[in-house]
Amino acid sequence: MRKCSFPRSADRVRAASSIVPGGVNSNFRLGVAPTPLVFERGDGPYLYDIDGNRLIDYYLALGPMILGHSPADVIAAAHRQLDTGLLYGGQSELEYEAARRVTEMVPCAERVRFAGSGSEAVQLALRLARAVTGRMTVIKFEGHYHGWLDSVLWSNAAPFDELGPEDAPVKWLASAGQDPAAGTHLEVLSWNRAEPLLSRIARGDVAAVLMEAAMCNSGGILAEPGYLEAVREACTRSGTILVFDEVITGFRVGPAGAQGRLGVTPDLATFAKAIANGFTVAAVAGRAEVMDRLSDGRIMHGGTYNAQPMAMAAAIATMDRLSRPATFETLERNGRRLMSGLATAFAEAGLPATVTGFPEIFTVSLGLTAPARNYRSLAGVDRAGYRRFTAALLGNGVRALERGAWFLSTEHTEEVVDETLAAVRATLAEVGPGLASGAR
Ligand SMILES: Cc1ncc(COP(=O)(O)O)c(C=O)c1O
Repeated sequence: MRKCSFPRSADRVRAASSIVPGGVNSNFRLGVAPTPLVFERGDGPYLYDIDGNRLIDYYLALGPMILGHSPADVIAAAHRQLDTGLLYGGQSELEYEAARRVTEMVPCAERVRFAGSGSEAVQLALRLARAVTGRMTVIKFEGHYHGWLDSVLWSNAAPFDELGPEDAPVKWLASAGQDPAAGTHLEVLSWNRAEPLLSRIARGDVAAVLMEAAMCNSGGILAEPGYLEAVREACTRSGTILVFDEVITGFRVGPAGAQGRLGVTPDLATFAKAIANGFTVAAVAGRAEVMDRLSDGRIMHGGTYNAQPMAMAAAIATMDRLSRPATFETLERNGRRLMSGLATAFAEAGLPATVTGFPEIFTVSLGLTAPARNYRSLAGVDRAGYRRFTAALLGNGVRALERGAWFLSTEHTEEVVDETLAAVRATLAEVGPGLASGAR
């Protein structure tokens, strides 16, 4: 197996740090072991870096690249629009067509507004919920990430010894410089526990319940049977807006997102990432009665780049492909092969690990012997050990997230998956004995 090393990336990131803080433009790109990487190009399932390495990529830009790094149809659609017009500060047929596609594919989507990023889409959904209900309180959950803005960046990755009692979680402020007042009306609960949530909603003063319908950001955790249905019913009964943040799951775990796959329809849902395969598109979709409150301008939603025409053309081409059954048949088949191959490889190496989630986005939790129920049950994950594993795996030509998630694209064929599993087995042979010693 050809070994990869990254001296040029390391040098370049270090040198660029004199201009770009930390050498990166998103904190999620900091702290990657052995170094943040600098890329030259992407092709299919591969990224090529400035050290001349070809890496099988399971970061997929943290989710968007569901059709791989070079889908000819999406790129051609964007090219065509490049020659036609860049940004109008007005409407185009493209955004109407893209919105129509969303309404065709997503159960809750009677209306659609496009936005610039997932973080912005979440802000719009919460503003709408508050305006429509005339209530301020929003409930979110430990370990769920909804973007980096002050109002929601709470308890997404709290240290396990700072969580407080599960019945009354401590609200954990995630960033230095974050305005604590922005979380005044935010309440944090532990996910997948119906009773405390249902009784809180029943008090009748909650504007919105905001959740990842399946926890993809920290653990590949599915809702327990009946949980989402019970929350849906409680929200309906008390006039609370149920918001599914489908920024990861949307157009990734199926053409209808998590809501389609899991059979529970929220009032509003947020989308980004896989909707446009790398182009800057986010969206809020939802019930007409709620969304139409945006029509008279009294609820503010802006964004210079919203529904940018080239990105809309890319979104249409992406949704076109995602709505074909063959696309998800491929993703499901190869994703399942990868999940079960990983589970077997860890078991054969004598390392406890769970592999949970969906074939298109799942998580390996090193150190767990049973699937996690919520954020708190991830306390037993050997994070340091898994980081050593992903750093060594990168050296064997496979790029997977340090925090355990694996994103799949249609370009990760059976052969690519098998090459990946060979690299995983080789990596575990190298570093597995050290991991088994349990040093965290
Ligand atoms: C579930 C979820 N919501 C919101 C966001 C924020 O999206 P963006 O990074 O486009 O602002 C993310 C980003 O990873 C996410 O995973």
